[in-house]
This record gives sequence, C-alpha cells and structure tokens, in this order.
Amino acid sequence: MNKGKAFYEGKAKILYATDDPDLIIQYFKDDATAFNAQKRGTIQDKGIMNNKISEVLFKFLETEGVPTHFVQRLNDREMLVRRLEIIPVEVIVRNLIAGSLAKRLGLEEGGLLSRPILEHCYKSDSLGDPMINEFHIRALGWATDGELREIEALSFRVNALLKDFFDRRNLMLVDFKLEFGRHHGKVYLGDEICPDTCRLWEKGSLEKLDKDRFRRDLGKVEDAYQEVCRRVCG
Ligand code: TMP
Repeated sequence: MNKGKAFYEGKAKILYATDDPDLIIQYFKDDATAFNAQKRGTIQDKGIMNNKISEVLFKFLETEGVPTHFVQRLNDREMLVRRLEIIPVEVIVRNLIAGSLAKRLGLEEGGLLSRPILEHCYKSDSLGDPMINEFHIRALGWATDGELREIEALSFRVNALLKDFFDRRNLMLVDFKLEFGRHHGKVYLGDEICPDTCRLWEKGSLEKLDKDRFRRDLGKVEDAYQEVCRRVCG
C-alpha cells in the first residue's frame, strides 16, 4: 500500500490518498483544540493513543455488525480506512446531562437521562458546528430519509454496544459524537472514537477521563488518555 498525497488536514487528523482509490490513510496528530479552535494545545502521544483506542472500538463494533470505515491499523499513528463521501453532519448521542446540553438548557451536569438523546450538528468549523435537525438534513439534501433512518438506528446501536463495553471497564459513557459517510452507496461509521469524541467518567468517583480535562484545564490530561488506552487496549 503506497501512501500518496495529503488531501485533507483537520484539527486532529490528516488524510492521505493511497494507490487504491477506495482506501485512504488516517494519520492521528497530537494537536488538541476546543471551543471551535479558540483554544489550542498539544496532548503528548494523543495521536498514538487515539489510533489504538479507535482501532479496538471499530473492530469491536464490526464484530457486532456495525459497518465502519476501519480496515487495519498500519503503525502508531496511522490506520487504513475506506474512503467515505462524508455526510456533513455530526451525530451526538447523550446518556447523561453534560457539556453543551447542560449549558443550553440550564441543567446540572451529571443527571441521568430517562432515554438517550440524539442530536445533529452541521459539520462546519467556520460556523461553529451549529445544531440542526433532521428536517434541515433532508431539505438541504445532505442525506436521504433512508440514510437518516439508518444513521439513527446505527447510532443507538453503537451507543448500546459502547455503553456496555465501557461499563465493563469501569467507565460511564456520558456522551459521544459520530460521523457517517457513504462508500459504494452504503452508509458506514467513519472518523474516530476516542477520548476526544466521547465523555468518559470513572464509575463511582465520576472523575473525567476525556478531553474535558483539556477543555476545562483540569490537569492530568495525558494521564486520562493513557488510562482509557490501558483499559480499552490493555
Ligand atoms: P457537547 O456537549 O460539547 O455538545 O459535546 C458532546 C460530545 O461530542 C462530547 O462527547 C464531545 C463530542 N464533541 C466532538 O467530538 N467534537 C466537537 O466539536 C464537540 C463540540 C463535541
């Protein structure tokens, strides 16, 4: 597999073409941003840990029948993935009240929701990923009705699977963000699943073991990623 040119650089990853038009390489950086990149920093070895954590989680989801873009991990910072036509929507699933939900509705962080909440945001850095709903997505032609139903079913299934997976590792899956795309007409789960994109709290102590340590200057940022990596990959 020959690595070609970088064709996209995001805040946490770089995407490279390969000699196979169906496959690309996803490179994980140590760069961290928050609040629409107003806050920037580096989390030592984050790229290595997120690559490994994402590998384990994608493999687990695949064995449970969830189609993901993951093909194989190539080295410390790179994984080979299917090239997706990205649907420009971030899907957020919430099990507990936290983050922007707490802020938007004036609710205290930590409350358990009686059922999971699904939210959609338009994937646009310049607009700050504004929240939208399924009517926007259909009316603007970003996804069809059938694709939206598939995305919803996959998101709730991923939630049930990951909640249980993390629970067995003494972690609560508070909320997380997913991205989807099309590959030869079929919907696949893309991007990454890691402490950048999930809120993970230690059961009992409720200690935060995710990117909120960076966002909120809580300290021990690297330690949190390492601890999640140890429990997920160990
Ligand atoms: P929020 O509470 O800030 O809306 O975040 C919900 C979840 O989505 C949280 O687990 C972190 C994740 N997330 C991302 O992956 N990327 C983002 O740009 C944002 C704002 C949140």
